[in-house]
Amino acid sequence: MHEFKYVNNHLYCEKVKLEDLARRFGTPLYVYSYHTLIDHFIKLQTAFRQIEPLICYSVKANSNLAILKALVDKGAGLDIVSGGELFRALEAGCPADKIVYASVGKTDREIEEAVRKKILFFNVESGGELENINRISKRLNRVSGVAIRINPDVEPKTHKYITTGKLTNKFGIDFKSAERILLLCKRLTNIRISGLHIHIGSQITESSPYVSAITKMVDFIQRLRRKGVDLEYLNIGGGLGIVYDRETPQTAARFAARILPLLKETGLKIILEPGRFIAGNAGVLLTKVLYIKPTPKNKFVIVDAGMNDLIRPALYDAYHQIIPLKVSKYQSIKVSEKVDIVGPICESADFFAKDRRLPKIKEADFLAIMGAGAYGFSMSSNYNSRLKAEEVLVVKDRVFTIRKRETRRDLISKETIPAFLL
Ligand code: LLP
Repeated sequence: MHEFKYVNNHLYCEKVKLEDLARRFGTPLYVYSYHTLIDHFIKLQTAFRQIEPLICYSVKANSNLAILKALVDKGAGLDIVSGGELFRALEAGCPADKIVYASVGKTDREIEEAVRKKILFFNVESGGELENINRISKRLNRVSGVAIRINPDVEPKTHKYITTGKLTNKFGIDFKSAERILLLCKRLTNIRISGLHIHIGSQITESSPYVSAITKMVDFIQRLRRKGVDLEYLNIGGGLGIVYDRETPQTAARFAARILPLLKETGLKIILEPGRFIAGNAGVLLTKVLYIKPTPKNKFVIVDAGMNDLIRPALYDAYHQIIPLKVSKYQSIKVSEKVDIVGPICESADFFAKDRRLPKIKEADFLAIMGAGAYGFSMSSNYNSRLKAEEVLVVKDRVFTIRKRETRRDLISKETIPAFLL
């Protein structure tokens, strides 16, 4: 479900005509629908209401403060992976006891900040990290909550770059080592074992990988219980897939129906860490066609957004639907043509679509790249010294800038020319 729809041949976000936004704010422009964002959060909350889980939105998907605040206001906690994300989470007003912190490479400084702020728990990814959290907590005279991230070795059937729960991945700890660590860590005085964590991958469209992973976790939890290790939480991570193309991902309700019986069997409090499911289809990237360039082999539609704005096609060969903001009479499927939609960046990976059949497009048309709300702006960069795009949030007929377009000054504001060169 999302609130980007055509009305009288114009694409709207909620009650706002997107072409008006493209003209008013310029392009490339990220536009988010507040109601879509909240609707996705509530859909998950409702699907799992029997067990009232803590839903920790995964900040990395879209870390804009306004997006975080909107979700926190609805009761979301946050899943973070760095000191920078901790800072954002707190700035957005998230209570520290609703923050969970994963990452295989937490630095001492990052651990210290999170310990001082008293986050709910760390999702711990190695024995070394556990010792380190204990050492730092001891120095600060604190007892910190930790959940051991388990690598359950399941195949999530997604792109290899976003598969995280197989033993060949760097994430989590295998069952055997985790058991050893859990039994040994009774000697660590400044940590409290709060629970277990898994996150098996991203853009997972079926429930079977979750069922396999959680079934393994249920067995493990029972085994630990017999050995005297009592836990409070099971964090099942994120990863729920969305529709980009012709996928038929499970709905929140169907997903919940499949895994709720298993979750109840654990007897633990449950945490979810969805990112894409909440933000993905709540945002689009608007771009303007600069040139149409026919070549002997292809027809290139060159747009003003680039891989620096949205890297998913370049990095994962990801599919994003691309549609015009205005459908004119001459643009019928009959006169559609196959084109490559590319950006202005000096890389052949700078494309948004290849060999895509689209209605006829001409210079100065505006296009919407759909499904850009998650891992869009948050993965953007200044490559080719391009300014990061503006982000706006639409709430019914109102529009709010939630991040200004960068300026040329921003580009160089952290740089200095050493005196010997002056
Ligand atoms: N929890 C942990 C520990 C994670 O590492 C992630 C994502 C999530 C939760 C949220 O996953 P989600 O519900 O959004 O699938 N840049 C890639 C996705 C990378 C995901 C990284 N981890 C993409 O654009 O497809």
